[in-house]
Amino acid sequence: MAKPPSKPARTGRKIGQKVKKSKLKASSRRWIERHINDPYVQRARTEGFRARAAYKLLEIDEKHEILKGARRIIDLGAAPGSWSQIAAKVTGSTDTDVRVAAIDFLEMAPVPGVKFFQMDFLDDDAPELLRDALDGPPDLVISDMAAPTTGHKRTDHLRTMYLCEVAAYFAIETLAEGGHFLAKTFQGGAENDLLTMLKQNFKQVVHVKPAASRSESVEMFVLAKSFKGRQTDD
Ligand SMILES: C[S@@+](CC[C@H](N)C(=O)[O-])C[C@H]1O[C@@H](n2cnc3c(N)ncnc32)[C@H](O)[C@@H]1O
Repeated sequence: MAKPPSKPARTGRKIGQKVKKSKLKASSRRWIERHINDPYVQRARTEGFRARAAYKLLEIDEKHEILKGARRIIDLGAAPGSWSQIAAKVTGSTDTDVRVAAIDFLEMAPVPGVKFFQMDFLDDDAPELLRDALDGPPDLVISDMAAPTTGHKRTDHLRTMYLCEVAAYFAIETLAEGGHFLAKTFQGGAENDLLTMLKQNFKQVVHVKPAASRSESVEMFVLAKSFKGRQTDD
């Protein structure tokens, strides 16, 4: 479905722009330059996506076809909402027939057809609220959650891996049989215990790094396909 952008989108901006030296710190200036010159950012703007993250999901889908046929989707760490936009579209979700539930502790402008909860996914009530928002089990649980960075790499890594693990257990308690789970993890991939657990519950488990995920970023995704279903003694 999605192809990495090869040429700049027509936004009126040119690639290679510099930000004027001002009171900005050099690192902030470099971040802004990279952002405004990023072809994915420009493409998201012209194609109406709220974030360049949209292309990570679309590129993963292009190879693994996880969106095809999805009737209900739960989106964890949804703001600003590009994955929710895609989820609403593929499920045909509307405000009168809601097929997508999403959560983030940040605010998110409404996405038509998406029931959004502004709360921490780690809150005890969150799993039930997300499940109850849909009229049946989801075929897809997607998590782009990343813990807010502290500047301490090891702490940031552990906190995001923890989110990935909690999301994985949620997926196993929630998915419809045959459903898929996609979650952000960090280089090195999901920890062994988590991978073992996923392999026990899904037919296929792979790590993916879409082109839209910056090569210098340690981010990658774990994709668990075809949920085997809950055992009766679970
Ligand atoms: C990379 S952004 C998600 C981008 C989103 N997929 C999109 O397409 O617009 C990660 C999000 O995860 C959220 N997040 C991190 N930890 C969370 C938690 N414990 N509960 C809810 N949201 C969380 C952050 O607030 C942030 O908005």
